[in-house]
Amino acid sequence: MSTPNISQKSIIEAFQYRHATKEFDGTKKLSENDINFILQTANLSPSSFGFEPWHFIVVQDKELRELLKPVTWGASLKLDTASHFILGLSMKAPMTKWDSDYIMSMMKDVKQFPEDVIEVYSKFYREFQERDFNLDSDKKLFDWASKQTYIALGNMMTAAALNGIDSCPIEGFHEEKVNKLLSEKI
Ligand SMILES: Cc1cc2nc3c(=O)[nH]c(=O)nc-3n(C[C@H](O)[C@H](O)[C@H](O)COP(=O)(O)O)c2cc1C
Repeated sequence: MSTPNISQKSIIEAFQYRHATKEFDGTKKLSENDINFILQTANLSPSSFGFEPWHFIVVQDKELRELLKPVTWGASLKLDTASHFILGLSMKAPMTKWDSDYIMSMMKDVKQFPEDVIEVYSKFYREFQERDFNLDSDKKLFDWASKQTYIALGNMMTAAALNGIDSCPIEGFHEEKVNKLLSEKI
């Protein structure tokens, strides 16, 4: 892997360019390549032990965007005009708990660790969760997954800015109502 050679000046310019875009130019559409580039930067983002406790969903369906509007006060203008609308979902407990099926499958199927490595890795992960970080409640586990998801979200916005693409982070929504809607529609 070669060392990147982007000047500090260019990076700062991208940070200056990035702003929370309140309303987009609805005539402008990202290409397939653009959106894949942005999603790839989430995919390449760091996560604790590399377990990626997130999902990213691109909402292009007009009907779902309409349904989201009444429960996302911070996004109403964006839902009408944004070329792409990415939902960042953090995994809930118990998915991220050291002995969950998801974690086991990440080690076995995705990382393809041999059995002995799984044993050692699991032990470290368990100690980290139980002893070091005291992740002893569903809420703590979810907040921890959310923190990691925000790293990927931040990276996507920075990458977009580096490529001259506007973005806006959105937390202006009713969590319970959005969760209900998404569980019915997705
Ligand atoms: C976690 C988070 C949630 C935000 N939620 C919203 C939102 O719901 N709607 C919105 O228009 N902007 C939202 N913003 C954008 C902020 O208002 C904006 O980043 C801040 O005012 C600084 O402006 P700038 O990003 O243009 O520098 C959010 C930003 C963050 C980091």
